[in-house]
Amino acid sequence: MCGIVGYVGSGSSLEVLVGGLKRLEYRGYDSAGIAVLSPEGDLGARKRAGKLGVLVEELAENPLPDGGTGIGHTRWATHGGPTDVNAHPHFGDGGRLALIHNGIIENFAELKAELVAAGESFESETDTEVAALLVGRAFHDTGDLTEAMRRTVERLDGAFTLLAVHRSAPGVVVGARRSSPLVIGLGEGENFLGSDVAAFVEHTRRAMEIGEDQIVTIRPDSVEVIDFSGAPAAAKEFEVAWDASAAEKGGWPSFMKKEIAEEPDAVANTLRGRTHDGAVALPELDGVAEALSGINRVLVLGCGTAAYAGMVGKYAIEAWARIPVDVELSHEFRYRDPVLDEHTLVVSVSQSGETMDTLMAVRYAREQGARTLSICNTQGATIPRESDAVLYTHAGPEVAVASTKAFVAQVTALYLLGLHLATLRGTLDADAVAAQLTELEAVPTKIQRVVEASSARIAELAHWMSDTQSVLFLGRHVGFPVALEGALKLKELAYIHAEGFAAGELKHGPIALIEPGQIVFVVVPSPRDPSSLHKKVVSNIQEIRARGARVIAIAELGDVAVVPFADEVIRIPLAAPFFEPLLSVVPLHVFGMELATAKGLDVDQPRNLAKSVTVE
Ligand code: M6R
Repeated sequence: MCGIVGYVGSGSSLEVLVGGLKRLEYRGYDSAGIAVLSPEGDLGARKRAGKLGVLVEELAENPLPDGGTGIGHTRWATHGGPTDVNAHPHFGDGGRLALIHNGIIENFAELKAELVAAGESFESETDTEVAALLVGRAFHDTGDLTEAMRRTVERLDGAFTLLAVHRSAPGVVVGARRSSPLVIGLGEGENFLGSDVAAFVEHTRRAMEIGEDQIVTIRPDSVEVIDFSGAPAAAKEFEVAWDASAAEKGGWPSFMKKEIAEEPDAVANTLRGRTHDGAVALPELDGVAEALSGINRVLVLGCGTAAYAGMVGKYAIEAWARIPVDVELSHEFRYRDPVLDEHTLVVSVSQSGETMDTLMAVRYAREQGARTLSICNTQGATIPRESDAVLYTHAGPEVAVASTKAFVAQVTALYLLGLHLATLRGTLDADAVAAQLTELEAVPTKIQRVVEASSARIAELAHWMSDTQSVLFLGRHVGFPVALEGALKLKELAYIHAEGFAAGELKHGPIALIEPGQIVFVVVPSPRDPSSLHKKVVSNIQEIRARGARVIAIAELGDVAVVPFADEVIRIPLAAPFFEPLLSVVPLHVFGMELATAKGLDVDQPRNLAKSVTVE
């Protein structure tokens, strides 16, 4: 949840740290702080509650001497409220050591009691301060920051990334990770640490993964990785696939607006290089080819928007590959003793690749013998690293906390997987696969048309609805997860009560919510679909209309049947049924953003949230 950055080199540590924190602020934004070693070897720190801007103002008023070594943190509070005192860094060894932390130290209460008994006093309510004091004490005993970190992490339970600097260890930053993200950035005469590559991508695109239970020591000219036992460990280098400009607003009023505009590219880039002569080409799955041919079940895991993408994928994978697909929220799956074996393919869907609930579910699935495939948007993240195979989405960095372009990229990746499985299992012939791919390849242009054609009208509607207290979303079949996604966007962005329902469920209870003026978005299936779903959804619209609902329909161009019953129709281009969600979701993304904007809210950083949920 928190964002972490570390730097050693001859550049301005303050600039690197503040720049890195700006790019990591999406991870948490209730307080921020930095600690730097001055050229004279003094340790200076500033930390403030509030968004990063508050810290930047503090630094302007009370500057720090700018040495070449430092650490920075942006917080999403777990233990202790968002106050100046609870903000990181925390201190040990009589103020000579500074430490920052992402995660939760589960045994902090016992350790705190032990430290208090040993004469230490605590300033904050955080679990982090325990680690700061422990590393400080171990440094006092050993004079070696790496060893001090190693001795400390041996004593910690839970999930954590820790970074520390000590005034007696100039030019050194030590980091450690367990089940929480940390990557290394490799520079020339300078090195970096970050919760993700965004922290340092403006300085270098050369990066290294750090494995589970490993400690890294960076100096300007060296990077050393060991495991928690002290043995040397290998780290894998990779090149970041995007440059710093991809994570800039680039003139857009918000990251979210930019990222919605990038939805066509997110689909196109996820497809790029993965189709060949009308067939799916996924060489990244070669290593699990044998396992894939032996599976008899697919289980998709994810949280929030990623889970909704999984639900969309289920319909297509089952239809194309004729294999049972279940979709489950990662945090529910993990704690119910699920039945799994080596014939189950567990597909995790995660933009960040760090969501703790999903990571724990993947680990559990592996322990039970299942094959694991990660659909992920973030290179070097923990979930893909711990999975048997990875299918990266190429949506580019998603900075706004609410997920938009990642959703369409995840659905695209799931569709590629579905067509790949259909080919392996012989459930679709080559022509059928080619026909579906042709449809999929046409999606980016169609999304573009939706954005261009509907955005202005949706902004007007959002303005008109800015006092609305409750909005309902209905959909059926692949439109059902789209309804859920529309409702989630409204809750998290506009703080409006919103619910998504399967339209068929309406008469089983939710219709009681309909009263005159209730706004209901309805995702309408195509009338060209041979199933009778279109008629059924139009009947549902009539039912709620008869009770006074104001209906905004998302319907295909040329669908006239819906017109007499809807107050407003947002049009999407014609597409085969499985590809409609990639189009119908776009106006709902725009609507969430515009309603939040109309209410004067921060669309990129909604209250109480963090983009990467790295605690359970
Ligand atoms: O990084 P992930 O895709 O694993 O994140 C999963 C959810 O936390 C995420 O989709 C969340 O629901 C967003 N706030 C949705 O906009």
